[in-house]
Amino acid sequence: MIAIEVADLKKTYRVFRKRAGLWASVAGLFRRTYEAVHAVAGVTFSIEQGEMVAFLGPNGAGKTTTLKLLSGLIYPTSGRAAVLGHVPWKREIAYRRRFALVMGQKNQLWWDLPAQESFRLHQEIYRIAPGDFRSRLDELTSLLEVKKLVSQPVRELSLGERMRMELIAALLHRPDVLLLDEPTIGLDVVSQRRVQDFLKQYQAQQNITVLLTSHYMKDVQALCKRAIIINEGEIKHDGPLAQIVDRFSTSKVIELQFADAQIPLDLKRFGDLFDVAPPRAKLKVPRARVPDVLTAVLAQYAVDDVSVHDRPLEEAIAEMFTSIKRPETG
Ligand SMILES: Nc1ncnc2c1ncn2[C@@H]1O[C@H](COP(=O)(O)OP(=O)(O)OP(=O)(O)O)[C@@H](O)[C@H]1O
Ligand SMILES: [Mg+2]
Repeated sequence: MIAIEVADLKKTYRVFRKRAGLWASVAGLFRRTYEAVHAVAGVTFSIEQGEMVAFLGPNGAGKTTTLKLLSGLIYPTSGRAAVLGHVPWKREIAYRRRFALVMGQKNQLWWDLPAQESFRLHQEIYRIAPGDFRSRLDELTSLLEVKKLVSQPVRELSLGERMRMELIAALLHRPDVLLLDEPTIGLDVVSQRRVQDFLKQYQAQQNITVLLTSHYMKDVQALCKRAIIINEGEIKHDGPLAQIVDRFSTSKVIELQFADAQIPLDLKRFGDLFDVAPPRAKLKVPRARVPDVLTAVLAQYAVDDVSVHDRPLEEAIAEMFTSIKRPETG
């Protein structure tokens, strides 16, 4: 069953561009110049129920705008979307009860009140039966290890603790679709891991559909098998995460530790030398050349240690932002 279906969805903003200088501002009084920003420039994708999909792209790519459209917070310029059969921007109550949006950069809880007060408000808004409310709250607070903190004003909580409260607030009404916009932004590694583990466990248990944006590839690798990549409002790639690595990391990294403190300068002829920190250095080499380069380097230099790895996912994805064309469809 398809949970999220988006077809040629567009959102164009009209922004006022002020020209520089005094004369321009005077002129601007009479004739304002507007410019169209194609935040989302015709995206099409569909997500099966129970899938957990990463939505990736550089700053300004159109990720948040897409999630806002899917949440019904903004109207599209054109195009279609259906989430669980609902058109999000119709803002039906029936839809509101079936999805949740969590934005890592935005506080959705009452700042001066304990989180439990915000949770109660959610209970009212979503008309959650008292028994369900208590058992869900109990379950979520223990899974996220914040039981003791629910009666403390939110402003006193750490960022990681607050994020976990935000997740609880979002999940109390048991949404079937969860839209996560950078849920781990600004968190330390431990808190990030905790959020990842929770999401993984919760998703497996409830089989909810998740669309996740994150700039942390660790989140993506921990949680998603599929990634949709967007740049300049257009989808650049949609497919298995593993495929991104295969298709685009055409090179590997050879990590070398030399016996001497000196890094041989002519190493450059074998590939791109980087992260040079004597006696260690890394060499980026086309995949097919790895065996030859290894043989040559080991024969010519005194090497204490050597290892070969794939380039990190971050790099493969960054390459996709820039280099690839829109995939052919039909
Ligand atoms: N309300 C708005 N008015 C005008 N332009 C906007 C508005 N909201 C977003 N934009 C523009 O639309 C584009 C896409 O923005 P969006 O927030 O969707 O990017 P993003 O992919 O979420 O980026 P980031 O990774 O930085 O969060 C940007 O160029 C942004 O400046
Ligand atoms: Mg964003």
